[in-house]
This record gives sequence, C-alpha cells and structure tokens, in this order.
Amino acid sequence: MKKSLKIATIGGGSSYTPELIEGFINRYDELPISELWLVDVEEGREKLEIVGALAKRMVEKAGVPIQIHLTMDREAALKDADFVTTQFRVGRLEARMLDESIPLKYDVIGQETNGPGGLFKGLRTIPVILDICRDIERLCPDAWLVNFTNPAGMVTEAVLRYSNITKVVGLCNGPIGIEKGIAKELGVDTSRIYVEFAGLNHMVFAKNVYLDGKNVTSTVMEKMTKNEDGISLKNIADVGWDPLFLNTLGMVPIGYLRYYYQTAIMLAEQKAAVAKEGTRAEVVKRVETELFELYKNLDLAEKPKQLEQRGGAYYSEAACNLIHSIYNDKRDIQTVNTRNNGAVAGIDPDSAVEVNCVITRQGPIPLTTGPLPIAVNGLVQSIKSFERLAAEAAVTGDYNTALLAMTINPLVPSDAIAHQLLDELLEAHQAYLPQFNK
Ligand code: G6P
Repeated sequence: MKKSLKIATIGGGSSYTPELIEGFINRYDELPISELWLVDVEEGREKLEIVGALAKRMVEKAGVPIQIHLTMDREAALKDADFVTTQFRVGRLEARMLDESIPLKYDVIGQETNGPGGLFKGLRTIPVILDICRDIERLCPDAWLVNFTNPAGMVTEAVLRYSNITKVVGLCNGPIGIEKGIAKELGVDTSRIYVEFAGLNHMVFAKNVYLDGKNVTSTVMEKMTKNEDGISLKNIADVGWDPLFLNTLGMVPIGYLRYYYQTAIMLAEQKAAVAKEGTRAEVVKRVETELFELYKNLDLAEKPKQLEQRGGAYYSEAACNLIHSIYNDKRDIQTVNTRNNGAVAGIDPDSAVEVNCVITRQGPIPLTTGPLPIAVNGLVQSIKSFERLAAEAAVTGDYNTALLAMTINPLVPSDAIAHQLLDELLEAHQAYLPQFNK
C-alpha cells in the first residue's frame, strides 16, 4: 500500500473546498495525503487563491503534513495522482441562473439537475469531464475519478459509455442526508440503521430501512408523514408530501422527486421564490460572496458554519469516506453511482445507478436490490433514457438527439415547448457548447 497519497481536486476554488479539507484532516491518520492539488481555471483564480490560503491555514492549524498546491495547470496536478476529485461548474453560477430561469418562462421547472436545466448542465459538463478522462489516461492511469460535478448521474453515465476510464465513482450527498434524517426521526444513531437505496442520482429511493436488523420501513413512513420532513436538502423547498401517497409508496424519495410528484406546487413555489429573492443561483451567489469574505479573514482556520447554507451538506463525508474505504480496502457499504452490473434488475447493466455498494480496493461492488417497485420503475426508466440521450447529445453535438432528450423529459410538457426551450437554451449557452456550433 502506498504510504503517501496525491489528490487532485478539479474546481478547487469552489466554496465547498473547506468541507473537503476538514474531511481529509479528520481522517489523516488512516488517509495519509501528502499532496493536495487544487486546480481551477483562470476565471476562478481569485476564488482559488482565497480558498487555497484558507486550506493552508486549516492544515497548519491541525498540524497535518498535507502540502497544498494551487494551480491553473491541470496536467501538473494530475501527474501521478492517486485520486482525482471533480467539483467544477462550467459557465459558473451565471450559466446556472440561465438553466433555472429560462424554463420558468415556459412554465417548466427551472432546476440545475432536473428537466431542461439538467440537460444543459450535462451538455456543458460532459465534454469537459471526458477531456479530463483523457488526461487521466495519460497522466495518472491508475487513479480513481471521484466525481461530484452535477448532474452526477448523467456525468457518470457519460464516463462509463464514452471514455476508457473504468475507475470512476459518482457521488452525491443525498443518500447520506436521507440516512441521517431517518436516524433522527427514529431517535437513534446512524450506526444502528441500514438503509437500502436504489435508483438514479437525484432520483433515488430509500426502499427499506432496518433498525438493529429489523425492518422498520413502515414506522419510518408513518413518522415522515406525521412530522416535519427532516430530510430535505437546503436547495429544495420542503412543501411536504401527501401522507396517503407517501405511505402507499412505502419508500422515502429523495427531495428531488417533488419536482415530479408535485410539479405544479413546485413550479408555483419556484416562481414565488424567484420574484422574492431571485433564482437559487442568485441566492448561492450571495452566500458565496459572504463565504469568500469570511475565507479572506486570516484568523479563520476552520470550516465556517455559514457553509451549511449550501445544499451540499455532508459532501466531504461522502467523498472522504469513499476515498478512505478504497485506499484502506474497508469493504464497508456506501451509496454511490456506479455501473449497475445487474444490481437494479431492469436497468441496463452498463448504465450508472445510485445504489448501495461494498467499497473495496477494486472499487464499488454494487449490491443486488432486485427490480424497482412498479410504481417508480417507469419514471426511473424514463430518466435513464433521458440521461443516455443527453450524454449522447453532449458527445456528438447532434441537435436532434438533444431535442429527443428534451422532449422525453417528464418535466417538459410538449414537443413544441421542448423545441423552443432547446433553441433558447442553446443560444443562451452558446459560449460553453462548442460541439453544437460546428
Ligand atoms: C444538493 C444536491 C447536490 C447539489 C446541491 C446544490 O445537496 O445533492 O447535488 O449540488 O444540493 O446546492 P446549492 O447550495 O448549490 O443550491
């Protein structure tokens, strides 16, 4: 086993980086990272320098010998890396704002990982991630790629289908958040529960919950319908669930499912929120300004509490636990995005799914969960078809494939609106979609 590790984090100037640093510091004894390279693009230089300086203060204060490098040179960062983590946003928050606001003009949900916004985030991101994959092949062929960049499911699908990289894992903080929420509802420590997750990224369901080995799913459902929903993510409005529906479904859906089961309510909520405080991108922009002001303070040497206003809570826990378990061959169970390989019956074995896996030195081994319940199978299959067409369009730059992806998305009401939305979004994002401008 290698005694010192090199990690490269692409999008290192992200406001989330202190999360990651905190996670690495806390696990240093078992995860001996000697070099952490934070990489960003020229437009992100200022943020990288500010957050990088904070990262250096954090490791110094903690007394761990992790060398932090700040760079715009991706090749230097990737050279001989053991793990590559990706957390970048092509087009930054300005592009997110367009993804969130343009669909609303057509009375369609405006969200960065679902519906038209999710499609366009994928179209912008996938060519960049595939470029990174080619660099990985050349510069660090043994490295694991741990992707956080959204839409994480579609990105993982694209890497599995269109790159030569097999050591890839897509990560989301959602399942950890749900597990913690369920433990809180039950009033027990998370170590006593086991939650069986199955589905896709941002379309995952907690199928079964066990407490000390006993199936307590129905108790959890009852509590969830009676109490405040304690498992909502910060970026999704908690508009409650219809108790009868949730009890009948018998599974805990990730908050993103609200966009599908409560479309009209969520659309009205989004419009009201935009009128009051702007899109989520604009809210996040203000939070980021505040965060970076704090990060500049030379006396700050820890992750500030204010970072909790972002939706990515427990993000470092997911990333650090995964890296830790791969490196130490821990063989524990974590919920990640990986090649299905038959774990979720009915989904193509070569597609990416979000499912419980045993995490080994060879990577995640997905645990068989059987078919999805009939009530949700259709929706999950639709989204998987959407993701596959979106990934194909991102790679080929083919207009018609993108149109099919847009039209089959369940949040898009008609072929004509799909067509108009596609044209308007293609125009708005032109600068970041060279594959469509040939
Ligand atoms: C949730 C999702 C993440 C997403 C984040 C957005 O945590 O699981 O995939 O990136 O929310 O949070 P933000 O603060 O950027 O709206």
